[in-house]
Amino acid sequence: MSTRGLASDLPIGEQVAESFDDAPEPLRSKLRIITKHLHAMIDELNPTIEDWNAAIEFLTRTGHMCNDVRQEFVLLSDVFGVSSKVETINHSDIEAATESTVLGPFHMTASPARELGDSIDELGKPDHVLVRGRVVSTTGEPVPRAQVDIWQADESGFYDVQVPDIQPAGNGRGLFRTDDAGRFWFRTVIPSHYPIPTDGPVGEMLLATGRHPYRPAHIHFIADADGYETLTTHIFVAGSPYLDSDAVFAVKPSLIRSFDDCDDPSEAERYGLQNPFKVAEFDLVLAPQNDD
Ligand code: BEZ
Ligand code: FE
Repeated sequence: MSTRGLASDLPIGEQVAESFDDAPEPLRSKLRIITKHLHAMIDELNPTIEDWNAAIEFLTRTGHMCNDVRQEFVLLSDVFGVSSKVETINHSDIEAATESTVLGPFHMTASPARELGDSIDELGKPDHVLVRGRVVSTTGEPVPRAQVDIWQADESGFYDVQVPDIQPAGNGRGLFRTDDAGRFWFRTVIPSHYPIPTDGPVGEMLLATGRHPYRPAHIHFIADADGYETLTTHIFVAGSPYLDSDAVFAVKPSLIRSFDDCDDPSEAERYGLQNPFKVAEFDLVLAPQNDD
């Protein structure tokens, strides 16, 4: 009788799944799902040993690229659309709430506290853009004293942390509190579209597959208030390139906003802007906290 083959008649994937039988739940179920899909992937790909070694080497280089300010594994999850998917399935499915989207890697530094109406541009560029809105509940009540954290790239497509010699720390960022009517407003510049970091294995993969690395122009928001689910989202600048091909699959049509021309000297004066200016409106509609 041949002694070749496996100690069990079961396929390896099923043996591995069974090996987790004594693990506590929910670990057991999660590991069984991971094992099932991993083995299905290998069955379908049928890799050579060289292929598999190349995959391990790619993941090893991805790990080596990670440090306190760079997370190449998150970037890998981003370009496969997994970050966007995980964010979406964990966000409230209440229709009336503002849709969420990815956090991204540039929220790595605290935003400076600012007063309503301040400019988040610290380079003294002529103020010509107003962003304003309200934080409200899904039933329409204003949420006073909500925290609104904002960060964005500049008109050249860079965040402060990427060009510390050009932008002071905190440029393009602001931590605001809504007023008694739940309103917030700030002055800024219109951000540019920009490439995600391409100097690592993820960039190599995009290049090798003919994919571009660009994200459409956007402003990041996190709205936080007691009794409500924290909302992590963006507004996307209407008309920006790459709205239909975001490198990280995070565009949701409901988040696209136009920056409209406004020629109104008294409004400009009220907001401390040069006339004419551009204005974008964006309400952040928060879902009630889910306690389960
Ligand atoms: C961002 O929007 O800041 C971002 C998101 C995912 C990957 C890279 C950048
Ligand atoms: Fe961004």
